[in-house]
Amino acid sequence: METILPYKSSQKNKKEQVAEMFDKISPTYDLLNHLLSAGIDKIWRRKALAMLKGNQPQFILDVATGTADLAILAQKMLNPKQIIGIDISEGMLALGREKIQKLGLSEKILLQTADSENLPFADNHFDTVMVSFGVRNFAHLEQGLSEIYRVIQPKGKVMILEFSKPSVFPIKQLYQFYSKTFLPWLGKLISKDKAAYQYLPESVEAFPEGKNFVQILEKIGFKNVICKRLSFGICSVYMGEK
Ligand SMILES: C[S@@+](CC[C@H](N)C(=O)[O-])C[C@H]1O[C@@H](n2cnc3c(N)ncnc32)[C@H](O)[C@@H]1O
Repeated sequence: METILPYKSSQKNKKEQVAEMFDKISPTYDLLNHLLSAGIDKIWRRKALAMLKGNQPQFILDVATGTADLAILAQKMLNPKQIIGIDISEGMLALGREKIQKLGLSEKILLQTADSENLPFADNHFDTVMVSFGVRNFAHLEQGLSEIYRVIQPKGKVMILEFSKPSVFPIKQLYQFYSKTFLPWLGKLISKDKAAYQYLPESVEAFPEGKNFVQILEKIGFKNVICKRLSFGICSVYMGEK
């Protein structure tokens, strides 16, 4: 898989650049998320979490939690005993903590700084691990996924929501125009970080989606892996079991 960097002339490695980028765009991240997807990101998160409902998860890890939207919705929809959210961007976590506090969920959802490639948890610690729009940004995809596998209990579940690429006419063509032209323009206008919203479509393009990603999850050790495409394949949910 090709390494896509947010700031191409920077000397920093991908992880440092990704943390720096999300720190920079964190103040406008939620607004842009909802604007750029016309609010559909909320529906995607809801659909993905609905796939976990039957398992009644109690101890959930939200990897690359960002501003904690998935963790907050999971608390509302699944009512687990505890959710821990981790991320490498302090800026994103600070906004997540503010939202959690306002909602009175500070005892249920804990956010901490940590790297998906070196999770500070014991083996078999969580019954569920979830990641929304995070794996594409990992510096070492398989290392991050192996760590996720390690901290899940046997029979526990992984749920991963990530962008993919629609393949049917005319959605494919419309989406390409949107993601390569409109999205970087609006992203730059609002976040003032041109590179961040160029990195987004580039990282989606390079990500091994669909059956390729299913194969990677199987190689890591996950069983019964399924992929469900949402909104003509703009986004996909992957579910697997340890
Ligand atoms: C597009 S945001 C997604 C945030 C949130 N999950 C959501 O659905 O809105 C991607 C997040 O992944 C985080 N991230 C990237 N690499 C990471 C890593 N190695 N470990 C933990 N978090 C990481 C970034 O800091 C950023 O907050």
